Amino acid sequence: MRLLALRSRLKWCFLGSLAITGPLWLAGCWLNGPQSTFDVKGPVARSQLNVFMVTVYVTTVIFVVVGAVLAYATWKFYCRSSADQPAEPRPQGHGNPLVEISLVSASVFCLILIALPTLKNIWYTYDVPEDQRANAYEITATGYQWWFKFEYPQEPITGVGPLVTGNELIIPAGRPVRINLRTVDVIHSFWVPKLAGKVDMIPNRANHLWLEADEPGYFYGQCAEFCGDSHAIMRFRVIALPAQEFAAWIVGQKLPARVVTPAGADAPQKPEAAQVRLANYPLADASSGDALSASPAFDAEPLTGWREKQIPSPAAEDPALIAEGRHLFQQKTCIACHTIRGHEGVGVTGPELTHVGSRTTIAAGSLENTPRRMRDWITNPNRFKPGNKMYNGGYTDPATGQRLINLTDGEITAIVAYLQSLK
Ligand code: CUA
Repeated sequence: MRLLALRSRLKWCFLGSLAITGPLWLAGCWLNGPQSTFDVKGPVARSQLNVFMVTVYVTTVIFVVVGAVLAYATWKFYCRSSADQPAEPRPQGHGNPLVEISLVSASVFCLILIALPTLKNIWYTYDVPEDQRANAYEITATGYQWWFKFEYPQEPITGVGPLVTGNELIIPAGRPVRINLRTVDVIHSFWVPKLAGKVDMIPNRANHLWLEADEPGYFYGQCAEFCGDSHAIMRFRVIALPAQEFAAWIVGQKLPARVVTPAGADAPQKPEAAQVRLANYPLADASSGDALSASPAFDAEPLTGWREKQIPSPAAEDPALIAEGRHLFQQKTCIACHTIRGHEGVGVTGPELTHVGSRTTIAAGSLENTPRRMRDWITNPNRFKPGNKMYNGGYTDPATGQRLINLTDGEITAIVAYLQSLK
């Protein structure tokens, strides 16, 4: 009877542990997801994965040995019949000194096995190795609620300061990149899972990390420290380019915003004229609907998608609509929060938009940068990023809920056409 009961208990233990660990086994099938720390693409993330795997191997051996001893003892010493059961508990022994010393030594040995690579890794990941420091590229990343600003101190623009971008960090591939981590408000955390572990961006503290991409690629980043309403969608991208392409990108980014000249006249068109053209503007696209992620076609080849984004397509552009958008961007006070270098924008509260049309994402990496998505975003930013400053305090007064800026559909379309033209 007892044996049957024990068997049944063991069976349920087995099924129970399978139910708990089953999803983990299944997750093993998708270990190469966009933010997987198992699919590493650079030396820093690789060294961190190695430490993790050493820990997994050591603890797996401990688990198997302890589990086997426990199973053996349970099997060997349980009472098979009431005759086995002693009337009195057996006297307590002090233990076996040899067994105790062996166990303590084995534990210390396991700890050393884990500690050695861990300590080595802490030093390695803290800063660019000395022999590569001269070759390191420097970038400053600043966290805002809820987006990232990227500055390039090695790329000064005369009369302006360092080159600034937002939410998409372009780096040279195969070269160490040292990133200064700053924040203007609360604690954020900078994390590109495939390239390096997370490091916090803390007010009044100069943290940094370094990373390197083995090869050109498109990587997903994420704020990894709870920082308010829209923390979970405070994302960014890292695009690693071959040296030459990176240099060309820098040259292009340093240029002021692109100007699309209307045929004939430079003056902004009247709103009525813009309205007529709305029907032809390509607001419908493949990624329509409410899905926040990019389209499957983009996900399959994101770096190719990024490269395509860099090229303006004048044939598809409507210069008059774009001029109208530029005029509205100023008139509706968008310029107070966003910089568009060379145009009217001067604000620094929101992301820099000088070349926003060449980015693959908007709204801090949470929406694909398509005309339709940009229109959705400008129409109601709170829908996609609850609590953001563009909506609360920009469009509406957070205290009264009163709408401060009113934009008609036609005006939004013109602004979208303008921003999309900024390649
Ligand atoms: Cu920033 Cu979470």
